Amino acid sequence: MHLLLKFIDFCKIVSYFSGLNLKDVAMYTQGLTHEPEAAVHAVGDEAALTRFQARIDGEQRIEPNDAMPAAYRRTLVRQISQHAHSEIVGMLPEGNWITRAPTLRRKVALLAKVQDECGHGLYLYAAAETLDATREQLYDDLLAGKARYSSIFNYPTPTWADIGAIGWLVDGAALMNQIPLCRCSYGPYARAMIRVCKEESFHQRQGYEIMLTLARGTPAQQRMAQDALNRWWWPCLMMFGPPDGESQHSDTSTLWKIKRFSNDELRQKFIDATVPQAHFLGLTIPDAALRFDEATGHWQHGAIDWEEFRQVLAGNGPCNNERMAARRKAHDEGAWVREAALAHASKQAKRAA
Ligand SMILES: [Fe+2]
Ligand SMILES: [Fe+2]
Repeated sequence: MHLLLKFIDFCKIVSYFSGLNLKDVAMYTQGLTHEPEAAVHAVGDEAALTRFQARIDGEQRIEPNDAMPAAYRRTLVRQISQHAHSEIVGMLPEGNWITRAPTLRRKVALLAKVQDECGHGLYLYAAAETLDATREQLYDDLLAGKARYSSIFNYPTPTWADIGAIGWLVDGAALMNQIPLCRCSYGPYARAMIRVCKEESFHQRQGYEIMLTLARGTPAQQRMAQDALNRWWWPCLMMFGPPDGESQHSDTSTLWKIKRFSNDELRQKFIDATVPQAHFLGLTIPDAALRFDEATGHWQHGAIDWEEFRQVLAGNGPCNNERMAARRKAHDEGAWVREAALAHASKQAKRAA
């Protein structure tokens, strides 16, 4: 198993870095014009902006070589790269349990899930490259602490129940957020999301099945499941971002149909879907104020501790330092793979020429 893990790891590293600076190999960049100005035509004047907005309003997809406002491009690069970083850093909390999964079946499923997350990161870096961002720059920004990833991956995974809770709640929240992105106005991002969502759905179910097994197990297993729910519930609600009144980017993102629902709307959808699932498990949502509002048909939740959210984003979460140290170590140790992949690619290119 150890050798198998090493081999899979190696293949992932090669496939990841073989895309570095080699845009022609990346799945979403094959038709991209590689001249920065031509690739990302700036939409500068009013008439062009109106035409652009008309395309958006008409639900036409924007493709890599199309004209687009610089701010649209910047917004997408920021969002897609943050999303990519989250997928890659998100492998760490669960990778922690691959060697200690309780059965071979659980180990295989977890291994597949963590590999999926790596794949999601790859599709997304490739999608960002269609906007003429370089993967190298995006990754350097992450390692330098300049780029963000989801706050949720800065929490620890001390028990096996955390793997169940992450699949059920974190992947469940991600799915809620990402399904509308399948209709995002930017073509490469929207198309990447279709496969990502299919896989997130599998992740959510495998997590819920772990929780179900624990919830139907011994009293100690039930306590473990409840403890994991207690620790993950509130950070998962924070994953949807600040309340609508405080969100900086929502307005233009909504206008450009990058975002289809507000943070609060998505959070509410998640709560409404998840509370009955917790009840089915016989677990208690750790929110004394939670109640079903007959009039609206929604579950009302208690106050979210936004100070905790701000602290985690500022780098003061329980595992921020550990996560970044792990990524930097992996990057340093992968230097020889990047060099080998680039040497191999240039040899191939010379042969082809
Ligand atoms: Fe993912
Ligand atoms: Fe996932």
